[in-house]
Amino acid sequence: MGLFSKDIKTLNDLFVHTLKDIYYAENQIAKALPDMIEKATATGLKQGFKSHLQETKGHIQRLEQVFKMHGVEVEGVDCPAIDGIIEETNDIIGDVDDKQVLDAALIAAGQAVEHYEMTRYGTLIAWAKQLGRADCASVLEQNLKEEKAADAKLTSLAERGINAKAA
Ligand SMILES: [Fe+2]
Ligand SMILES: [Fe+2]
Repeated sequence: MGLFSKDIKTLNDLFVHTLKDIYYAENQIAKALPDMIEKATATGLKQGFKSHLQETKGHIQRLEQVFKMHGVEVEGVDCPAIDGIIEETNDIIGDVDDKQVLDAALIAAGQAVEHYEMTRYGTLIAWAKQLGRADCASVLEQNLKEEKAADAKLTSLAERGINAKAA
């Protein structure tokens, strides 16, 4: 954060910085999901990841819309947090042999990603409203709604069978 601190003076600067952070994160997630789709065994899980990949592409487009609405250049900024979550996911994928246990691990990894996105969108929505950009907030709310639904879907897949099969 030290590197950026001189460039972030106002709440608006912080909002734009965080928008760039989640834009980078969404792009990294779109790159990571195909491997998760391939490694998932349970049909519902594979399908869930597939449909969330489509939603993720939509999240990227909505973010581009918010950049334009707010009059700033569309760009990402490195987000070590999402890089770490994805790196951990790849480590787990490599370490777990049993397919049923791997499905449980993929759900846990997916939920770590969703929760990261939810915290970023929650913050961005609050800041957008504070900055008088209810229009940007409502676009961001559409992304948050889909992240929450994806998270709930993963919980239900785990609790309605995948965890039991892994045990
Ligand atoms: Fe997303
Ligand atoms: Fe997501």
